[in-house]
Amino acid sequence: MPNTVLIGAQWGDEGKGKVIDVLTEDVDMVVRYQGGNNAGHTVKIGDDTHVLHLVPSGIFRKDKVCVIGNGVVVDPVALMEEIQGVQDKGVDVAGRLFVSDRAHVVFPYHRAIDAAREAMRSEGRKIGTTKRGIGPAYGDKVSRIGLRFADLLDERFAERLSLNVREANGILAGLGADSVNEREIVEQYRDAAARVAPLVADTVVLINRAVSEGKSILFEGAQGTMLDVDFGSYPFVTSSNTGAGGACSGTGVAPHRIDRVVGVIKAYTTRVGEGPFPTELRDEIGALLGREGHEFGATTGRPRRCGWFDAVVARYAAMVNGVDFWAMTKLDVLDHVETVRIAVAYECDGKRYETVPAHGDVLARCTPVYEDMPGWLETTSSVTRMDDLPAAARAYVNRLCEITGVKLGLLSVGPSRDSTLRVEL
Ligand code: IMP
Repeated sequence: MPNTVLIGAQWGDEGKGKVIDVLTEDVDMVVRYQGGNNAGHTVKIGDDTHVLHLVPSGIFRKDKVCVIGNGVVVDPVALMEEIQGVQDKGVDVAGRLFVSDRAHVVFPYHRAIDAAREAMRSEGRKIGTTKRGIGPAYGDKVSRIGLRFADLLDERFAERLSLNVREANGILAGLGADSVNEREIVEQYRDAAARVAPLVADTVVLINRAVSEGKSILFEGAQGTMLDVDFGSYPFVTSSNTGAGGACSGTGVAPHRIDRVVGVIKAYTTRVGEGPFPTELRDEIGALLGREGHEFGATTGRPRRCGWFDAVVARYAAMVNGVDFWAMTKLDVLDHVETVRIAVAYECDGKRYETVPAHGDVLARCTPVYEDMPGWLETTSSVTRMDDLPAAARAYVNRLCEITGVKLGLLSVGPSRDSTLRVEL
């Protein structure tokens, strides 16, 4: 398979875990490039459901190498717990799971600051973060005070940490929150460092060597385009570049080494956390989508907000990521909807928007312009060929591809590996 970046084209939770698991069959290496354990990738194999937060979704195919790249922020304690969970299911990670020595470390004070800042924000300004410390950890990275895995394994770790703990406790005091205990952190992280050490590697060299040897790489994006710190619904975003561009800076692989971009997109839209969501449905249909789609956050368990397919968002995601193919998921969730709606544009203050406005307050006031299509009112979850889809379902999928100008690569009609129609991927 060509070197592929796989990104979420909406607000995350598009079903990337499943698509990655399916595509991983054809690759040699799977690489995470941004985010942290705010992500939750669900993989269903047989009757077993696995939720991964940091470990790449390729881990369940035993001959694949999995890498956590330099662009990821990693809580080593959470990582070791996750690895233990994977090993408990009989999966061997030795020699095939690596963490970048350049990846930044998430500490308890990052989580404490994340939670304290959220508590300080007034209603309507809360981001609804996962409270995993992601924003403060990336903040330290760009402020050039972050500690990386190379530092975690270094003998001067405790000394470097001490400065950061002092500064963090100052911030926490300013936010009216409890301080963190330096000694406890040193002990906990020394222990985690000893366990994580065999996995730490210069992944920039590791990945580039694989590229030079002609191995095929799948770059696994987390979250989604509308949560990208540059292109998303700022400030209601996460703190990394979730888009295809992040795959280069988050791994050290040059842009011309990447052959194609696959955008994962749900046949409707969801969002977890706060912030604008133009096609949100706060009615019976929204509740039905949530119920049928089991729309609960894989990391926090929060119910996801549900709404119609937003082609404005999808077109924008196709543009900023250069999406070559859609991997469209959860079509079956719409099986019992009489009329399906697609937002083709927005209107706000008498102005029509064909693309996503930069200002979050404008986006929050936008009302969608809908195009309606008949539903199919038939079960699609057992369909294995495009030609066997109900005509109305096929028309809906084709219309989504037409409006967004992107070809269909894969269609998913259920959570298991088998309910996947590989069209061009
Ligand atoms: P943070 O990444 O924890 O700082 O949260 C920032 C925003 O991104 C919040 O609205 C979260 O709900 C959202 N978010 C973070 N990770 C995910 C994810 O994996 N799926 C969906 N939303 C996410």
